[in-house]
Amino acid sequence: MFVFVVLILLAVIIVKVACKLTAGRCKSNVCLVGKTALITGGNSGIGYQTALALAGRGCRVIIADKDNCDESKENIIKATGNSNLVVKTFDLASLDSVRELAKDINATEERLDILINNAGTSGLGHNITKDGLHLGMQVNHFGGFLLTHLLVDLLKKSAPSRIIFVSSIGAFIHKLTLKNLNLSEEQSKESMSQLSIYANSKLCNILTSDGFAEKLKGTGVTSNSLHPGVVYTPIYRKHFSGVEFNDILNFLCYGVVKYGALKFFAKDAEEGAQTTIYLALSKTIKDVTGKYFIDCKPFMKPPAAYNKPFAEKIWKASEDYVKLATKEKL
Ligand SMILES: NC(=O)c1ccc[n+]([C@@H]2O[C@H](COP(=O)([O-])OP(=O)(O)OC[C@H]3O[C@@H](n4cnc5c(N)ncnc54)[C@H](OP(=O)(O)O)[C@@H]3O)[C@@H](O)[C@H]2O)c1
Ligand SMILES: *[C@@H]1O[C@H](CO)[C@@H](O)[C@H](O)[C@H]1NC(C)=O
Ligand SMILES: *[C@@H]1O[C@H](CO)[C@@H](O)[C@H](O)[C@H]1NC(C)=O
Ligand SMILES: *[C@@H]1O[C@H](CO)[C@@H](O)[C@H](O)[C@H]1NC(C)=O
Repeated sequence: MFVFVVLILLAVIIVKVACKLTAGRCKSNVCLVGKTALITGGNSGIGYQTALALAGRGCRVIIADKDNCDESKENIIKATGNSNLVVKTFDLASLDSVRELAKDINATEERLDILINNAGTSGLGHNITKDGLHLGMQVNHFGGFLLTHLLVDLLKKSAPSRIIFVSSIGAFIHKLTLKNLNLSEEQSKESMSQLSIYANSKLCNILTSDGFAEKLKGTGVTSNSLHPGVVYTPIYRKHFSGVEFNDILNFLCYGVVKYGALKFFAKDAEEGAQTTIYLALSKTIKDVTGKYFIDCKPFMKPPAAYNKPFAEKIWKASEDYVKLATKEKL
């Protein structure tokens, strides 16, 4: 019995140390004075830590989030001494709200050097938005797809500039088809778990990043996506608030979260922000585009991301769903 306990403890320590040793860190200290970054979901978790790190390097940082971000703003100013911070409230679940934000940014900002599509969530159930789109897909995919389109002119004007999509390793277990890109409530209830909706949306982030990379070649605007690692943030609480336990994977994940193992093994938000920060500012990847990163290193993508005709179909359908005008298309 004693030996058994010691072995378990040893295994736990080894795994924890391995996690710490393999976690990528952004070692670049590039100065960002004169640059502007927009971070969606910058009020919490990985996005907040990204905003803090960029502000600490002198960047003008715009945090756009669903919630009031005044407290985050105060905290970042206190920690960095940089008061060049703007906060905006918007809702990715509304195409109008996304358009309003883009219009506001385009009209008031002289430049945009870094656009970080970070906001994302899970556990939203099967609801449909007032735009007639699946809520989970709209927040995690359609919203950022539209926002990035509407800011492309400003990004081009500010080139060299960078677009970043915070995806997830979850994209590897996607079940995305052209049909379930947008779903009715009934279709969603019948055929989709919360985890599948999340995974599908995160594959869309990679496809979208790759699409912008391809279409913006030669403009000085790059686009890359990433998996931040397993990071202990409020997103897991949100995910399990909407989960049905008909799915073994969901159930296992729930156990891991509930019994604290996640908190112990996962990265904290500051560690989880490293790959995003790396993509935002590192000089070594200034010309890299269309890649997917984990722990500050390029990583292979899910096979579907290499399927050009499939990616192109998802892109075209997304253009229609977010009602892009012809002149707004790339
Ligand atoms: N944590 C992980 O282990 C992990 C792993 C892989 C990928 N990711 C990705 O990392 C990104 C950041 O997640 P996180 O872990 O830092 O979670 P988080 O702490 O929950 O942060 C997400 C932020 O996005 C905001 N947001 C949610 N819905 C929004 C909407 N409709 N409009 C505008 N903003 C909205 C949230 O606001 P509210 O608080 O109001 O909801 C929150 O501030 C997500 O894209 C996630 O998919 C995370
Ligand atoms: C989904 O819709 C139901 C019923 O219309 C509502 O009670 C619930 O709050 C909605 N959930 C979200 C996450 O919007
Ligand atoms: C952004 O603003 C410029 C002028 O500052 C304008 O020409 C352009 O049409 C605007 N783009 C969008 C998408 O609103
Ligand atoms: C999304 O799919 C549902 C179900 O097929 C449909 O009713 C709805 O109109 C679609 N949304 C859009 C914007 O086409």
